[in-house]
Amino acid sequence: MRTQVVIIGGGPSGLLLGQLLHRRGIEAVVLERKTREYVLGRIRAGVLETGLVGLMEEAGVAERLHRDGFVHDGTRIAAGGEMFHIDFRALTGTPVIVYGQTEVTRDLYDAREAVGARTEFEVDHVLIHDAESDRPYVTFEQNGQQKRIDCDFIAGCDGSHGVSRQSIPLTIRREYEKTYPFGWLGVLSHTPPVDDELIYANSERGFALCSMRNRNLSRYYVQCALSDHPEDWTDAAFWQELKRRLPREVAERLVTGPTIEKSIAPLRSFVTEPMRWGRLFLCGDAAHIVPPTGAKGLNTAASDVHYLYNGLRQYYEEADSEGIDRYSERALARVWKAERFSWWFSGLLHRYPDQSPFDLKMQQADLAFLRDNQAQQRAFAENYVGLPY
Ligand code: FAD
Ligand code: DHB
Repeated sequence: MRTQVVIIGGGPSGLLLGQLLHRRGIEAVVLERKTREYVLGRIRAGVLETGLVGLMEEAGVAERLHRDGFVHDGTRIAAGGEMFHIDFRALTGTPVIVYGQTEVTRDLYDAREAVGARTEFEVDHVLIHDAESDRPYVTFEQNGQQKRIDCDFIAGCDGSHGVSRQSIPLTIRREYEKTYPFGWLGVLSHTPPVDDELIYANSERGFALCSMRNRNLSRYYVQCALSDHPEDWTDAAFWQELKRRLPREVAERLVTGPTIEKSIAPLRSFVTEPMRWGRLFLCGDAAHIVPPTGAKGLNTAASDVHYLYNGLRQYYEEADSEGIDRYSERALARVWKAERFSWWFSGLLHRYPDQSPFDLKMQQADLAFLRDNQAQQRAFAENYVGLPY
């Protein structure tokens, strides 16, 4: 068969791109390795920039987000037993929206099904062919059958372990990476969130984050060793550790309960250049990873989708390839700024095994500067709510 765009990966990037293209009459087929239930079972990001919200609106899937999402006008940062507030609304005029990635993905799958757009689940051995020609195609296996789709373009939205990035020859691909000597242990629990805003905490015992999904669903994280396993952490041990990393008055009002999900994610900064090879375009985690501090992963995937969608729209509607020709350059310019912010914010809040007394003093000075300096707060807020596309 033939379509205009083959989208490899049915995560948020692939689904959002597919829905935006559909609204413009551009046909796309999404190929997803897993089942829909599996994709929706992954608990990931929770904070949306207004840029992503705007794309959801343009895709016609923002109704539930506006109804059930929570507008956050600021965030709290705790350090040394104290806490200060950063007021996004006052500093930038823009809030962020708390609405889970799971819900974003569910809304996009529902919209895709409602319009009868084609998604192929449980595909295996996806291979990209002739990406450098103007007649690329993709082959895959499904239910033991070999299949082929011819197309104009391929969007590689298949995450960090996908096939798309690996298809770009090593002579062309350049990768930049930084790993961090710790991970995040995250839990979800049916308890009321400890605060009406997020709390990012730097403590002697390491980083902690208090987040939420709704009024009775909390999401908490603590920095942990990379060698830890979620099974090693009992609920009681998790709550005790979280409380020890929060200012006392916050710990005292924390409501604990059984956890319904517990997982560990390593922290990593990673960028691939270029994000285009012939008619293959990388989007989202397929091209770059940020450490989660600052919630930039999903939001940076969305900014890629913005540039690619507009490039493809320009190509099909105006017969102009300027947007796709400059896709990699435009997307990367914003990606590197999100990488910088996530790297800096991670450095501000975590304990590093090799941190010297001098390094600790620098961290404290950096925190004090953020607490006391309005220009620094503004720069922080501009990055947190999302740099312009
Ligand atoms: P993905 O969500 O990874 O989607 C890629 C899709 O492609 C998947 O559904 C996968 O099954 C499919 N796929 C892979 N290979 C193939 C193939 N060969 N063929 C077909 N399909 C394939 N960000 C935050 O901002 N805050 C967080 O708290 C946060 N927590 C995270 C926790 C974890 C464990 C991980 C892994 C990421 C987290 N992120 C977080 C990052 C954020 O979730 C990602 O940036 C976001 O999911 C990127 O979306 P994506 O669609 O580009 O990639
Ligand atoms: C969440 C995750 C983050 O990495 C972050 O910075 C804020 C919130 C979350 O999962 O809710």
